[in-house]
Amino acid sequence: MSRAPIQLFVPTFRIDETLEAIRECLEKGWTGLGFKTVQFEEAFRAYAQLPHAHFLNSATAGLHLAVAQLKAAHQWADGDEIITTPLTFVSTNHAILYERLTPVFADTDDSLCLDPASVEARLSPRTRAVMFVGMGGNVGNYEAIRDLCHKHGLKLILDAAHMTGTRLHGRHIGHDADVTVFSFQAVKNLPTADAGMLCWREQALDQQARQWSWMGINKDTYARTTSSGTYKWYYDVEQVGYKYHGNSIMAAVGLVSLKYVDEDNRYRRQIAAWYDELLESEPRIKRIPITTGCEPSRHLYQVLVENRDEVMAALNREEIYPGVHYRDNTVYSMYHSGVNSCPHAACASDRLISLPLHLRLTREDVERVAAALKAAL
Ligand SMILES: Cc1ncc(COP(=O)(O)O)c(C=O)c1O
Repeated sequence: MSRAPIQLFVPTFRIDETLEAIRECLEKGWTGLGFKTVQFEEAFRAYAQLPHAHFLNSATAGLHLAVAQLKAAHQWADGDEIITTPLTFVSTNHAILYERLTPVFADTDDSLCLDPASVEARLSPRTRAVMFVGMGGNVGNYEAIRDLCHKHGLKLILDAAHMTGTRLHGRHIGHDADVTVFSFQAVKNLPTADAGMLCWREQALDQQARQWSWMGINKDTYARTTSSGTYKWYYDVEQVGYKYHGNSIMAAVGLVSLKYVDEDNRYRRQIAAWYDELLESEPRIKRIPITTGCEPSRHLYQVLVENRDEVMAALNREEIYPGVHYRDNTVYSMYHSGVNSCPHAACASDRLISLPLHLRLTREDVERVAAALKAAL
């Protein structure tokens, strides 16, 4: 008897409410920058308790702006270094290369996030920043990395693509990084279709981001439309910017998703607790520790197994479709110069599996995945 396939990710949208929010944009005749993007920025800023939030068309754009703005603000030279992780989606590291800076890979620890000792060992006179990825919504040893950045006068960029709703000691993450970037891409725990949020701690950099994400123009179209008086069509272009800003349709989707993200994350943690319960007695499955004091978004539930490729194939035969987050970036041609520099990440990269985790999964689905996984070892 064939059973329903179990996918890695299936995003949940509150469809009627989301369509209503999109309808508002269509009826108003405003689908671009402004209107809903302004509402979403305000709602997200209040939700995450961060000083600033600028809505963009992706986290990739946000990571690029974060690096570009820091480079300009602090007059970093081409070739200056940012310490980063090899276990991530390539956007994280491309952002460094876009600005002709050098990604220096440090190793990961058991949390699959950067290992503070390895970061410390990679410091050089040219180190300017650390790029930290909160894998799957976990914080790993983030606080130790933050303290290291303070000690050495380095900027801290938090790639929080997986971390909407992650709290540490009861407080939403992001407040103590120089800049934090969230992703609302199609399958993230706060899904739209494609979007991201760039959250600067410093107001001047938030203001600058608003110009750089709109071609370097110093007045956005919405401000021009809603302001009064003559000369509202006057603006200056202060530098070569990018077309990175978000739009009102994506913001409308995001605003509705944001209302439910805490509830959704709670169910994600319930699914993770079921996996923990069903897998903990199997020593051949290594689970990833969640940092004490962290309430993770649980974007991912990852395990490590020795025979990963066989396990993946066996699960597929059972119509279960897990994923891999991520391959060690140093195996890619672009990042090959870092190969063999991070043995722990390389080892994890060959063993990682992300088990299905989404809001439509039931306890029975989780039991089916766990049983199939154990049978495939
Ligand atoms: C760790 C990490 N950083 C950055 C990104 C890029 O996000 P976006 O697709 O919104 O550009 C992703 C998306 O998969 C990611 O997983």
